[in-house]
Amino acid sequence: MTLYFGADYYPEQWPEAQWKGDARLMADAGFNAVRVGEFAWSRMETADGVFNWGWLDRVLDILHKHGVGVVLCTPTASAPLWTVEACPGLLYVNYNRDQRPTGGRRQYCYNNDAYRFYTERIASALAERYSAHPALIGWEIDNEFAQEFTGRCCCSVCERKFRSWLRNKYGQVDALNAAWGTVFWSQEFSRWDQITAPRDSVLPQDPVTQTYLRQNPSWLLDYERFCSDSICDFQNLQAAGIRKYSQKPICHNCTGFAVNFVDYWKLNRNLDRGGLDCYPSVVQEDPISSSRDLSQARNMAPGPSWIMEMSSGGGPDTWSKAGKAQAPDGSLKLMAWHTYVNGAELALYFQWRIFPRGTEQLESAILDLDGVPRRKYREIASAGKELQQHASLITDTTLSAKIGLVWSYDDHWALGIKPTSANSSYSSQHLGLYRSLYDLGAGVDVISYDHDLTAYTMLVLQSPILMNPGIAEKLKAYVAAGGVLVTTFLTAVKDSSNGGFTDRPLPGYLDDLFGVIVSEVDPGAENLPTSIMLVTKAKSGKVEHAYWTDILELHGAEALGRIVGSWRKGEPVITRRSYGKGCAYYLGTYLGAEGRSAVFAEAAAQAGIQAPSFAVPDRVERVVRTGAQGDVTFLLNWNFKDVEVTLDGAYRDRLTDRLFTKSLVLSPREVAALSRA
Ligand code: GAL
Repeated sequence: MTLYFGADYYPEQWPEAQWKGDARLMADAGFNAVRVGEFAWSRMETADGVFNWGWLDRVLDILHKHGVGVVLCTPTASAPLWTVEACPGLLYVNYNRDQRPTGGRRQYCYNNDAYRFYTERIASALAERYSAHPALIGWEIDNEFAQEFTGRCCCSVCERKFRSWLRNKYGQVDALNAAWGTVFWSQEFSRWDQITAPRDSVLPQDPVTQTYLRQNPSWLLDYERFCSDSICDFQNLQAAGIRKYSQKPICHNCTGFAVNFVDYWKLNRNLDRGGLDCYPSVVQEDPISSSRDLSQARNMAPGPSWIMEMSSGGGPDTWSKAGKAQAPDGSLKLMAWHTYVNGAELALYFQWRIFPRGTEQLESAILDLDGVPRRKYREIASAGKELQQHASLITDTTLSAKIGLVWSYDDHWALGIKPTSANSSYSSQHLGLYRSLYDLGAGVDVISYDHDLTAYTMLVLQSPILMNPGIAEKLKAYVAAGGVLVTTFLTAVKDSSNGGFTDRPLPGYLDDLFGVIVSEVDPGAENLPTSIMLVTKAKSGKVEHAYWTDILELHGAEALGRIVGSWRKGEPVITRRSYGKGCAYYLGTYLGAEGRSAVFAEAAAQAGIQAPSFAVPDRVERVVRTGAQGDVTFLLNWNFKDVEVTLDGAYRDRLTDRLFTKSLVLSPREVAALSRA
């Protein structure tokens, strides 16, 4: 494996005379990769079928001469005007049925047949032209699908295709009526053509995002799935076009857990690399959020992840409508290591040089407007050299996590359609779980139900509100074979159509696995003066909880936590049950950090997960990678101050060759790679 390092480059925005100088500076910085082309359609195809490759040929040749490889992008994220003039119907339409005008980007409908024709043609033409070019490393399709609220087109084409999608799924209108429960408020359909895309028909004055629609939840969930499937299909059309000519790896630059309009498990099923745009705030000291993004990215596609964009610092900013602080010294290098230790093969900074014009004018880049290399360039160049020298620390080692944390788009959408808390969400609660699990020091993989669950000794689910017999059987088999499963409140309440179970107690299909039945629910725990009395090895005493409480009847489980502080005193909320060779924990509420750590420590011990041999201070990221030469423990100090790490023996830092016998001091933003001496 080669490690790739570089930037996002927009040569089409600069005079050709600058390209050689750019390539020279890139090579001097140790770059061996750039991304090119994702917004350059109007230069690649100047009019319908009129291709203009000369400039791109020359760019690739120059980069290649300087040892810089290229990830080429299909340019479909921004439709050139000629496509819209030829087919005005390709413009994106939102829930309020407002058509997105030209003048921005992502202005297209992914189901529009004319746009799909142009898309397939340009993707194939690019691949045909450049598949044999020696600079080519691989491909990126489009740019950040669904970004800027473009994941849910409601145009007439989408409505027509939605009806076919439903027909395929339900066969008969009556089956759909039953699954959706359209008898409620007399909404029954008698013909397919009566069904539309959602729009806010209950409280029409509310805004445009789906979370605010109050339509039938089953209808809304099917629209989420349909639109996500449509985007996957739009991508796969391009992937097929590319694969006619090129076998190089393909990715899409996903947005972690920021957008969530596309099921990334499905989207990446047909790709080779888990692509991610990873923007940890360069001024923050907390790596957890991007650590979770990177964890998902390395588990999305068969190959390692590709980080297509990461921050190059601060400056003016279009999207926050404010300025962004610059990255303190060491932050840009820290981020590069952060991506590689967490599974990346390629990492690119956004972007090479500040744009003087256009929507994103004056935003951060490695080079300033005048192209003079200054502090950021110097830091990135030093990172490039360090990476070249020590690439084997990544390429000869692998990261294997013992804990799996499921992320389910269906559950995320279902809980977004009918939120259970005004100030929390599936994603924020999931992040809280990730943080507590990560602190166990055994590595956490964010996965889907489709992954091989047996690869993990401990498996954790955040409010898996939708359940079906297939998933339930998989979970039972996992525990029966010795796995330790932890689930949280609102487990298995509804079926896959987003309708409540009426033929079984809750948690549906899983009451025997957990040995509990939910007898009542009590939302809004944070408004009540209640706590949970927890009895685990790590903690016996009161802990805080929030958002929601499932009151449990014990049917074979033992209670580890009961309510205190209200008329519900003594009622079980946290339980554990042995099942086959394994064990199943039910956390009927959202425990605060202290309670989560205590229960996870108990579950981890049962799963045979040992505590790391030495502790790390707060905000020091620890990632252990294993290779033939033994473990390499990466320590990344995200703090803006020195921190001391007390070691359990002698270690050598492979980056600096320093020997530490008892402890080491990491300076702000410093990275160390320790092997036992
Ligand atoms: C990304 C996007 C880029 C650029 C960047 C600005 O999300 O893919 O094209 O807009 O943000 O920070």
